[in-house]
Amino acid sequence: MKLVTIIGARPQFIKAATVSRVVADRAEIREMIVHTGQHYDANMSDVFFEELAIPKPDYNLGVGGGMHGSMTGRQLEAIERVLLDEKPDWVLVYGDTNSTLAGALAAVKLHIPVAHVEAGLRSFNRRMPEEINRVLTDHAADLLFAPTDTAVGNLKTEGLPIERIELSGDVMYDAALFYRHRARQPGWFAKLGLKIGDFVLATIHRAENTDNPARLAGIIDGLANSEEPVVLPLHPRTRARLYDFGIKTPGNIHIVPPVGYLEMVWLEVACKVIASDSGGLQKEAYFHNRRCIILRDETEWVELVDAGYNLIAGADSARIVSALSKPLSDVDGAPLYGTGVAADLIIERLIS
Ligand code: UD1
Ligand code: UDP
Repeated sequence: MKLVTIIGARPQFIKAATVSRVVADRAEIREMIVHTGQHYDANMSDVFFEELAIPKPDYNLGVGGGMHGSMTGRQLEAIERVLLDEKPDWVLVYGDTNSTLAGALAAVKLHIPVAHVEAGLRSFNRRMPEEINRVLTDHAADLLFAPTDTAVGNLKTEGLPIERIELSGDVMYDAALFYRHRARQPGWFAKLGLKIGDFVLATIHRAENTDNPARLAGIIDGLANSEEPVVLPLHPRTRARLYDFGIKTPGNIHIVPPVGYLEMVWLEVACKVIASDSGGLQKEAYFHNRRCIILRDETEWVELVDAGYNLIAGADSARIVSALSKPLSDVDGAPLYGTGVAADLIIERLIS
């Protein structure tokens, strides 16, 4: 079986690393990796291929930047050319980025079966580009690998046929288990005078926060008033917007460049609490028994909020400060994201 995997953005490299590792042990599958080029800086792309030993992409399409229509359109055209040449049996797409939608659309129009990993996630906020990407991808795909019961429920509610839906668990949980013991302390950590267990780990990159000066300023102000120092590995998009809007960050917020996944896992385990608008970090907090203050007004990962592990704080400074000081529940109860074998289940199903 020939499988073409389409990836392009940071979280997709991490998800695909886990699946590619399983594929490497299966003689009956040949995987070709297509990197759309959506993320292209070394610390947003190359670092993951190097440290997670992801096979070098067979194609790098070099399509990053620009408006959504332009980026998705250029990716669609370039992926179509690859699929016409490669003629795979399956195309595998991950998550909800523009690269996901471009990959799914290119394949379905060529009548190549598409499998979507992380299907069924919904924020019910149609202003999020990711919500549009995931709804359209799910409805185009032939096989929907849902990470949670909630995701399965969302797909059924939208009338997607039950035969297409598979509860696989979450490949990010597989990754968390596999890489936890390979975590690496960033070189700058001690130099900044930081202490294990006594800092807030923050990330910000969602368009709804970065492109809205009031929200971005509210988040920075909330973090500035944290009792503990804050470590903020900064996405290039956010760095640019802070500069554009003239928002200054005070000394208790340590801005560092984006880190590799192994360093991120170390920070997640070492921090006191996480504050983030990232989908991945909300779950990784839970995987490593930390809490996450969600810097958004809603989340797709509702089970973590329902269980009292994570807390929605939005972008209001006072609400963020109050959330950071609240004690949250310790992780206790049935695992919410499978048993750490999602990638094996996905590959078995594709083969069968
Ligand atoms: C994208 C995804 C988002 C995902 C995130 C993961 C979409 C619509 N959004 O958001 O779902 O959560 O990736 O991080 O697909 N840039 C660089 N260097 C890079 C990458 C980006 O400078 O290596 C800058 C460019 O100015 C670019 C901007 O960041 O225009 C935004 O990048 P883009 O990939 O469009 O969106 P993200 O915010 O990264
Ligand atoms: N991540 C990382 N370095 C960083 C920020 C995030 O390795 O500087 C990892 C993080 O641990 C998670 C994934 O990237 O596995 C999440 O990606 P991101 O927050 O960019 O996107 P989202 O999950 O919101 O789509």
